[in-house]
Amino acid sequence: MKIVEKLNELRAVVQAWKQSELTIGFVPTMGNLHAGHLSLVELAQQRCDKVVVSVFVNPMQFEPDEDFDCYPRTFQADSEKLAALSVDVVYVPSVPEMYPNGLAQSVVSVPSVLTGLLEGASRPGHFNGVSTVVCKLFNMVQADVAVFGQKDYQQLRVIQQMVQDLNMPIEVVSAPIARDEDGLALSSRNQYLSRAERAIAPKLSVALKDIALAIESGNDNFTTLTEVATQRLLDEGFDSVDYLQVCNSITLQVAERDCQSLVVLAVACLGSTRLLDNRKVKK
Ligand code: PAJ
Repeated sequence: MKIVEKLNELRAVVQAWKQSELTIGFVPTMGNLHAGHLSLVELAQQRCDKVVVSVFVNPMQFEPDEDFDCYPRTFQADSEKLAALSVDVVYVPSVPEMYPNGLAQSVVSVPSVLTGLLEGASRPGHFNGVSTVVCKLFNMVQADVAVFGQKDYQQLRVIQQMVQDLNMPIEVVSAPIARDEDGLALSSRNQYLSRAERAIAPKLSVALKDIALAIESGNDNFTTLTEVATQRLLDEGFDSVDYLQVCNSITLQVAERDCQSLVVLAVACLGSTRLLDNRKVKK
C-alpha cells in the first residue's frame, strides 16, 4: 500500500493504472476509520481493479463553532486498517496541498433546495465545503467509481446532484449503513458519547425503524408518526431532536402522502453530540 501526500505523485500512479486500462475506485474519508468506512472500501474493491482512499479532514466543511481542531486524527491506526485490506493508495494531502490559494477559492455550490434544509439548515456552509472538496478530489483521483455511505444520506444526494449537474465522468455508488449490534449507526463521533449517552443512542435507530415499518404497513400520517417519535426520543433521554422527518428520497422535501420513494431522516442530540441516522421506507 502506497501512502501518497503529493498530488503530482498521485497523478503519476493513476496515469500508470490508466495506461494499463485498470479501473479505479475511490473512497473519500476524513479518517478515524471504522467498519462503516471499511465496508465502502470493500465495495470499491469489488467494483474496481485499484482503490484509492483519501484521508483529509476538510476545514471548509466545518462551521466556525464545530470540532475541526479536535476532530479525531488517527492516521497510524487508519493506515493499518487500510493496509490490512490491501488498499492500493491512501491519499493524505495537507491543507495547503488541497487549498493552495486558501479557503477563499472557487466553490462548487449545489442548489439550496437540496443543501439549505436538514443538515444545511443548521450548518450553512457545510455542503459547499463538502461538494467543493469532493469535486477537487474527483479531479485529483480521476476514478471511475466513487463510493459514499447512505449514513450521510443528504451528502450522498448532494454529490449525486453535483455529478449529474456538472457532467462529471464518475459513477457514484452508495453503500448501506453499517451499524453496531444494537442498531446505532457507526460514526467517528460516537466516541464522544458518555456511557449513559451510549446506552440511549440506539433508540434513534429504533424510532426510525418503527416509523418506516408503520409506513410500510399502510400508515400515511407522517406528521403524527414523526411527532410521536420525537416526543418519545425526548422522553427516553435525548436532549433535543434537530429534525425527524419523512422526506421524498430524491428531493429531500417533506414528503406528500402520495410520494412513492421515502426516507426518514433524523438528527438527535445527546449532550453536544449530534447523532445522524436515516432509514429508507420499502414500498
Ligand atoms: P466521513 O465522515 O469520514 O465519511 C466518509 C464516508 O463514510 C462517507 O461516504 C460516509 O457516508 C461513510 N460512512 C460513515 N459512517 C458510515 C456508516 N456507519 N455506514 C456506512 N457508511 C458510512 O463524509 C465525509 O467523511 C466527508 O464529508 C467527505 C465525503 C470525506 C468529504 O470531506
